[in-house]
Amino acid sequence: MPKPQRAMLSRRDLLFVGGATAAAAALPSWALSATPVKKFALETSTQALSQIAPAPHPATRVWAYNGRVPGPEIRVRQGDRLRIDVNNALDEETTVHWHGLRVPVAMDGVPHLTQAPIPASGGRFTYEFDVPDAGTYWYHPHQRSSEQIGRGLYGPLIVEEHNPISVDREVTWVLDDWRLERDAQIASDFGNRHDAAHNGRVGNTVTINGHVPETFDVRRGERIRLRLINAANARIFALRFAGHQPRVIALDGQPVTPHAPADELVVLGPAMRADLVIDMMGAPGKRYTITDPFYRRLEYRLIDFAYAESVLRDTPLDSEIALAANTMPEPDIATAERHEVRFNGGMMGGMMMGEGGGGMINMMEMMRSGKMWLVNGVAATGHVMDPLVTLRKDRSYILDMRNDTAWHHPIHLHGHSFRVISRNGNPTVHREWQDTVLMAPRQRVEIAFVADNPGDWMFHCHILEHQAAGMMGVVRVV
Ligand code: C2O
Ligand code: CU
Repeated sequence: MPKPQRAMLSRRDLLFVGGATAAAAALPSWALSATPVKKFALETSTQALSQIAPAPHPATRVWAYNGRVPGPEIRVRQGDRLRIDVNNALDEETTVHWHGLRVPVAMDGVPHLTQAPIPASGGRFTYEFDVPDAGTYWYHPHQRSSEQIGRGLYGPLIVEEHNPISVDREVTWVLDDWRLERDAQIASDFGNRHDAAHNGRVGNTVTINGHVPETFDVRRGERIRLRLINAANARIFALRFAGHQPRVIALDGQPVTPHAPADELVVLGPAMRADLVIDMMGAPGKRYTITDPFYRRLEYRLIDFAYAESVLRDTPLDSEIALAANTMPEPDIATAERHEVRFNGGMMGGMMMGEGGGGMINMMEMMRSGKMWLVNGVAATGHVMDPLVTLRKDRSYILDMRNDTAWHHPIHLHGHSFRVISRNGNPTVHREWQDTVLMAPRQRVEIAFVADNPGDWMFHCHILEHQAAGMMGVVRVV
């Protein structure tokens, strides 16, 4: 098996300004940050080999950060400042977006909208920002995302709490889904119209941290914090943990009242994350299977928990598992201004679903142009466009979103987290904070947030083929 090249990851603190109040007075404000700077380097390349399909299948040629898939885990502390030097060795432009982190707009990594793309073959860009919130995040390109992410450019970004909950082990699983040919190489049919008009590029090989796993070793009594990240272009996961009772403690990085997942399924649309606490209370020496029944008749086995013969403890820990709240301002629902957002498009019964669900007039044109999805009647042709809505800084807003299509869509807003307050008119139980909300076909979802981060922010479906085929807009905060 080819060894992936070692990450060029540096965790040196370049600058430590502690108790620097005296210096602060003497220096211009831009020269200082109140927190240590953690420095990282990412280099994209098209030359990496990775053992995606299990041996004896050959290794797969991937595009990768620092030579490996997923890219290196960036792990910092809440309140830290990050500096990430990106060197682009692709033959095409790229950017890096810090999915879910509430960064200043100039650091958001959206080509043409927030920065010039990083040039091909040696272009460089330095991102620098503070991380206000703890949680599970990830990074990925925002340029030709379907192919760049689909070929392996993504990595986890973990922001630790000041006072983490106590667990025996913390584990990150980055889930992905690949469309491989018989020779285990990535199918090159990116951007085809069938994927775009249906449920996106769903593949045939599911990986955890870049490999097709067999087992995950555990011990009876162990408490594990499992951070799940869905990095797939299009696949929706619904994980069922046979014989175990996972509790969800965070969604999209944001703390939520600890609870058992509805219907015992942990559902993750593309780009979504969940933090679980699992007490491993199975029998020593036994195996327990995690399955994914999301797509009808396509249920598969993801991995087995394999119990050691030895036992760590016989009664689970009873320490606190609730996380401290993050720093988002609370939206004022009573005074919030409402905006309607309608999603249309896609194939249904052999027809494109045009504006209002009925208009077939533009069907041929939509198919021909490859623009098959609409947000409030508009199919985006690039990242720069007139804003869908313009919001006033620090005011509360409700987006009343209607999915008038026959498909699921994970809808992502940059620069903010929002509360999901209702589905089909029913208040949600947990009023969860998310940055990406999965809308079922025909579903209506209301989200609420304070528009506290000024700038032009992408608002799009994270099924990357839908995004490329028009399903994005811009939310402006002024
Ligand atoms: Cu995960 Cu617009 O991005
Ligand atoms: Cu979509």
